[in-house]
Amino acid sequence: MSNSSNNNRPLLEVKGLKTYFYTEDGVVQAINGVDFTIQPGQIMGLVGESGSGKSVTSLSIMRLLSASGKIVAGQILFGQEDLTQLNEQRLLEIRGNEISMIFQQPTSCLNPVFRIGDQIAEAILTHAKISKTEAKRQAIEMLRTVGIPDPTKRAEAYPHEISGGQAQRVMIAMALATKPKLLIADEPTTALDVTIQSQILDLMRNLRSEMGTSILLITHDMGVIAEMCDNVAVMYAGQIVEYTDVISLFDGQLHPYAEGLLAAIPVLGLVQKHLAVIPGSVPNLVDLPPGCKFAPRCPYARDLCTASEPRLYPAKPGHLVRCFMRDPETAQHWAGVQRATWQFGGDEVLVPGEQGTATSQDQVALGVSDRDITFTDQGLSLEE
Ligand SMILES: Nc1ncnc2c1ncn2[C@@H]1O[C@H](COP(=O)(O)OP(=O)(O)OP(=O)(O)O)[C@@H](O)[C@H]1O
Ligand code: SF4
Ligand SMILES: [Mg+2]
Repeated sequence: MSNSSNNNRPLLEVKGLKTYFYTEDGVVQAINGVDFTIQPGQIMGLVGESGSGKSVTSLSIMRLLSASGKIVAGQILFGQEDLTQLNEQRLLEIRGNEISMIFQQPTSCLNPVFRIGDQIAEAILTHAKISKTEAKRQAIEMLRTVGIPDPTKRAEAYPHEISGGQAQRVMIAMALATKPKLLIADEPTTALDVTIQSQILDLMRNLRSEMGTSILLITHDMGVIAEMCDNVAVMYAGQIVEYTDVISLFDGQLHPYAEGLLAAIPVLGLVQKHLAVIPGSVPNLVDLPPGCKFAPRCPYARDLCTASEPRLYPAKPGHLVRCFMRDPETAQHWAGVQRATWQFGGDEVLVPGEQGTATSQDQVALGVSDRDITFTDQGLSLEE
């Protein structure tokens, strides 16, 4: 897997993480044995459909789970420290300083009694030895970059005086301003328009190249993954089902779920009302099916898939996949199998795959700037 740093010691190492919620309806097994590492300066993508456990993974790292949520197994090593073992005092020092998070739901992250410009300036002052006036100036610049109109004036506003969309952007500005070692960005740009989205992605990329910040980037958007990430982990029902570098994933997904996700990408330049979705839904996490969690929706499923659980196995060097079809011990059961034709349900407008290289306009639509994307009737491929 690619590593954009000379330092081979991981910044973050998540090992065997299990996070459950104890609810009236039973135990929700939200995270079921997740392992990944992020090197200094690396951008890792976490992708998967709604309910697959992306946010719970990030909230587990931040130790910000709701009261019913518990980390029941595993380690989260941040440098030398295991975040699962730290006391609240040490966690407070790490949060918002060494690790920042852009939350999917930006509710209570801004302090209601301080002006937004002052809050960002305060965040800047935690790491930079500059005057308050300079910090304020930088805070206004930051507001401008995240697309807040009339930033000098808006810096004087209190959080209740700005819209939800602006609060999201202020929160992004604050998370970036602390120049953390690790930035966790949970769907940071989903609600924002394309221009602001690409400015924010640029800011994140700059933070990585200038400060060596590592980023855990959670998104539904494969275009954002393609543009930003070194590595990517595909999550399904609280597990990682495929984990590799981003080029390998786009070139040849090995897990049927990842294959479906990539096949569901709308063909660029053609109109689709809704993003296609893989038929069926994620399993009930209180009562998980035996064996492979994807079996009820998998076009390749065989009887053996529901008898026991597949392991996460390196089917190729640096390319891990959790599927019996790709495991050398069981792969013979799929000898000669053809690639499935994915049928997408819902009321989306389906368009036939068009062969060719994406135009620059398509690349803008996808938010891709520095990688070539080719789309074929087999899906999308990436070249550096
Ligand atoms: N506080 C909670 N109590 C009970 N179950 C929860 C709680 N928070 C999350 N879950 C469950 O954990 C599972 C994973 O949720 P999570 O929020 O991580 O999904 P996600 O991948 O981030 O989805 P999305 O793309 O919609 O944000 C879901 O089934 C969710 O219902
Ligand atoms: S293990 Fe079987 S059911 Fe699961 S993804 Fe692979 S082929 Fe499909
Ligand atoms: Mg989420």
